[in-house]
Amino acid sequence: MSASAEMPYFIKPSQNLNPQEKEAAYEQAAAAIRANLQGESDPVLKMATINCLLKTYLPYYYWAGFYVKSAERRLSVGPYQGTLGCLHIDFDKGVCGRAAREERTQLVPDTHALAQGSEHIACDPNSRSEIVVPVFNPQGELIAVFDVDSTLQRSFDATDQRYLEAMMQEHFAQ
Ligand code: SME
Repeated sequence: MSASAEMPYFIKPSQNLNPQEKEAAYEQAAAAIRANLQGESDPVLKMATINCLLKTYLPYYYWAGFYVKSAERRLSVGPYQGTLGCLHIDFDKGVCGRAAREERTQLVPDTHALAQGSEHIACDPNSRSEIVVPVFNPQGELIAVFDVDSTLQRSFDATDQRYLEAMMQEHFAQ
């Protein structure tokens, strides 16, 4: 898609990558994140840095951010880059809620195919596909989910899942 009237000036429409470009971009982003987070333990600082560097290297990342577990069966928005995110998401709502509930990664090729308001929460109508990855602490408890949205359909696949699950494990579960 091209930029819509609702898309703010500081956000670009997504550009999908071919499989080779995607692998290369994740390798670069993962190395930059590792280098910058060496010796750091503050989860907020880690979340902010991961958002920034992934969004820098992956041109289909429209919105990238963390929803942290703020209460029993509730998520609240944490560090993110992109347009305004919903502030709170219950575990029984949306793709983020499902990832938290099932503690499993969710890949959504077309967000508009989901029931709006229940299966998907449209914080921004420009979001057309997404991936949500659960984030665990070293004790194996869910502490957050990492949510990425694209303005294009089918931006995310098993490669995104593999790199993002490994990254969340490396930076939050060890
Ligand atoms: N995609 C989410 C809502 C959060 S926004 O996309 C930032 C969902 O349906 O869970």
